[in-house]
Amino acid sequence: MAELIVALDMPEVDAGIRLARSLRGTVRWVKIGLEMFVLGGPQCVATYKDMGFQVFLDLKMYDIPNTVASAVSAAARMGVDMLTLHTQGGEAMCRAARAALEACAGPRPLLFGVTVLTSMGPGDLPAFSGDMGALAVRLAQGAQEWGLDGVVCSGHEVRTIKEACSGLRCLTPGIRPASAAANDQKRVMTPAAAVQAGSDFLVVGRPITRAENPVRAAEDILRDMGS
Ligand code: C5P
Repeated sequence: MAELIVALDMPEVDAGIRLARSLRGTVRWVKIGLEMFVLGGPQCVATYKDMGFQVFLDLKMYDIPNTVASAVSAAARMGVDMLTLHTQGGEAMCRAARAALEACAGPRPLLFGVTVLTSMGPGDLPAFSGDMGALAVRLAQGAQEWGLDGVVCSGHEVRTIKEACSGLRCLTPGIRPASAAANDQKRVMTPAAAVQAGSDFLVVGRPITRAENPVRAAEDILRDMGS
């Protein structure tokens, strides 16, 4: 059964907490991204954990192996349930992150690798003019080989990635209900189509955070997902 993750991309810590409070009992997972983590730091991870949420810390790490390994250990000690790095950081960085998580006491968070950002369309990646889907699959194959649990990819790539890398889980942002605006996302998909494609986790931000009634928006998306 696919899981809905609500991206708490909000301009204030308190706004995120208020929204999460209203979503308790409707969704199980929240995502703390760069904006919320810069604003609220480790304390906001603790707040959402105390509220009973599974916490996905989406910092998309990309640095030298030693720095990323130390950062993922610190995130694991905070109690996050899932975190991300960029697969474009390469084999040594991804393997170092996985080894660092193995060495941590306590439950190991899921480690996901970003393939190609869903805001990127053809021509947007510097010095790359090839097929974005093929690049995402190549990066996913690396992710599997280097010990990652899953990849972040567009819904359009889920089927091919699952065929090429059985066992790898897929997390898809760029989810838009049929009636919603795409905003800055370029490779979007409806919740139902993403689930049909085989996605395991659907990340949704603005269609919920900016909805007039966020709880109803989340419920509608869950219904569309068949949950
Ligand atoms: O508001 P929206 O639904 O577009 O939010 C999508 C969320 O997923 C954002 O928090 C964004 O950082 C994240 N994300 C993404 N594309 C990726 C990886 C993460 O949009 N490839």
